[in-house]
Amino acid sequence: MAENPTIRELSHEDRSFDPPGEFAAQANATAKLYDQADADRLGFWADQAQRISWDTAFDDVLDWSDAPFAKWFTGGKLNAAYNCVDRHVEAGMGDRVAYYFEGEGGDTRTITYHDLLREVSKAANALIELGVKTGDRVAIYMPMLPETVFAMLACARIGAPHTVIFGGFSDKAIADRVRDCGVEVVITSDGGYRRGKTNALKATVDKALEDIPEVHTVLVVKRTGQEIDWHNDRDQWWHDVVDKQSETHEPEFFDAEHPLYIMYSSGTTGKPKGIMHTTGGYMVGVAYTHWAVFDIKPETDIYWTAADIGWVTGHSYIVYGPLANATTSVLYEGTPDTPHRGRWWEIVQKYGVTILYCAPTSIRTFMRWGRDIPAEYDLSSLRLLGSVGEPINPEAWMWYREHIGQNTCPIVDTWWQTENGHILISALPGVTATKPGAAMRALPGITADIYDEAGNSVEPGNGGYLVITEPWPGMLRTLWGDEERYKNTYWSQYPGVYFAGDGAKYDQDGDIWVLGRVDDVLNVSGHRMSTAEIESALVAHAMVAEAAVVGAQDETTGQAIEAFVILRESAKEHNHVVGMLRDHVRAAIGPIATPRSITVVSDLPKTRSGKIMRRLLKDLAEDREIGDTTTLADASVMDTIQQQVRAAR
Ligand code: WT7
Repeated sequence: MAENPTIRELSHEDRSFDPPGEFAAQANATAKLYDQADADRLGFWADQAQRISWDTAFDDVLDWSDAPFAKWFTGGKLNAAYNCVDRHVEAGMGDRVAYYFEGEGGDTRTITYHDLLREVSKAANALIELGVKTGDRVAIYMPMLPETVFAMLACARIGAPHTVIFGGFSDKAIADRVRDCGVEVVITSDGGYRRGKTNALKATVDKALEDIPEVHTVLVVKRTGQEIDWHNDRDQWWHDVVDKQSETHEPEFFDAEHPLYIMYSSGTTGKPKGIMHTTGGYMVGVAYTHWAVFDIKPETDIYWTAADIGWVTGHSYIVYGPLANATTSVLYEGTPDTPHRGRWWEIVQKYGVTILYCAPTSIRTFMRWGRDIPAEYDLSSLRLLGSVGEPINPEAWMWYREHIGQNTCPIVDTWWQTENGHILISALPGVTATKPGAAMRALPGITADIYDEAGNSVEPGNGGYLVITEPWPGMLRTLWGDEERYKNTYWSQYPGVYFAGDGAKYDQDGDIWVLGRVDDVLNVSGHRMSTAEIESALVAHAMVAEAAVVGAQDETTGQAIEAFVILRESAKEHNHVVGMLRDHVRAAIGPIATPRSITVVSDLPKTRSGKIMRRLLKDLAEDREIGDTTTLADASVMDTIQQQVRAAR
């Protein structure tokens, strides 16, 4: 990638925003942090570790002698749930709200830290009564409910690693995960609310467990009251088992390297990877990054990560990070358009949300619906915005800034992965300038770089492979049950260096732009381009809300660009859209980037975390049978797109 000039030429973005003076004056993180970390990286992490309460102090910050198997904060003992709950109550903050829960239908619950302590203690006692022991894995398949958090923290409290399975996954996905990590207890609910309907979570668990008798208990939270089948020898109501328990539970303290959770990451090929996170380093990493990147002021902020607890963003920035910092968060059960398309902004206005963290896919959806919708609400409480999950197109970034952030909120584009545990690359909102579409620079304490094929750092203005050159506290420790795959996937491309699998480039200032997965790079007549850049050119057009680009086999050019676009609502009537967009891309990037075809579609195939599954579109573009669609958020979308492609050709 490095020798190729194309990536340089593609970068036309030169807007840059300095941190607002007022924000900088009050910011948690200052430029000094970079200096401290550069001077003494491990000393810096030892300092950050003081954000966490240790029952036994650690001896060493890092033991990397058995690389790539890391041990952080060796000898230290702690309890993650104690750090999230008990210590805040002990410090007199029991009445502080931990979560404002907002159900999709408008039902609400307010959970204070006191409430959290009581509920988590009861749930921990219940799990013990059900025979769950330290080290046993517990699966959680739930909607976004306070009980989901209680269940996770109850597991953490007794040292039973949880594996949360996204509530939109199929019975097969549940069965695979339950089998892979030898789960015997599953926590679920009868159902949950989605788009005004109920989805059948318990029924899906029943189906998943048909051939898995090893699961001896299914604990069921009552949410919707819908009809469900009941297996007397296996199923128990949460309220029957939990409500009767003692409200106190003495936490036990575990080794810093005790497993906290396993999160399965689907990947594009092969069986899902069970990404294992442990306790001490992870808690330090999430507490520090939540403080530095989100500038959290727990006494006054109302913080909202609008993501699902079933993916790592939810684990780190709805549950563990915010709670470690005694934050008040919003927890929203539903979708952005139920019962109306102003739902998010209504929630921001209602609770006075100050910090909002979400994915580019949501922002592009709001762009499509139009600026008039957020304009109906008072969003003046917002002071900081975040983005995560995929490269954010500059136009979406600008729209977010203008129509949600009132042209004043800094935007932090945070790069990280399930494997990373916490944010690794991001602006610090009071320190770093921000640029639309750039993740900017490694956080203090993190050492990121961009390598060429040979493992040399590339110069400013060049692209290559994103790597992390030193271990970090929240890093995955292994893939559950598969140490070889752990080594091969992440540590074999460049010895001793973490290979992220993303393409990235430095701009002339040396700031980092993440371009997407390396498999999302395409090659037209020998010119390498990233899908992200062509997509951004499309989204920059006033009529386009979302775009996905794939490289399809082509006899003459090797690969040809095929684009799929969703139009903004205001553009629907236009006749010559396709021709106009083709001209637009040609003008924006150059003739080499002109798409062979552009198809207007109503939806794009996305994973649960909002990532476009380009390989499915590639199957379509190359006239193949559509591959595995089990991790799609909406399984029917490929059929719809297929019909739209046929109609267009
Ligand atoms: C992949 C990781 C960590 C929660 C997100 C999903 C992409 C993530 C960004 C960003 C550009 C990003 C990368 C990465 N990604 N954040 N700010 N800019 N790309 O975690 O499902 O493990 O996915 O998401 O491609 O490798 P995940």
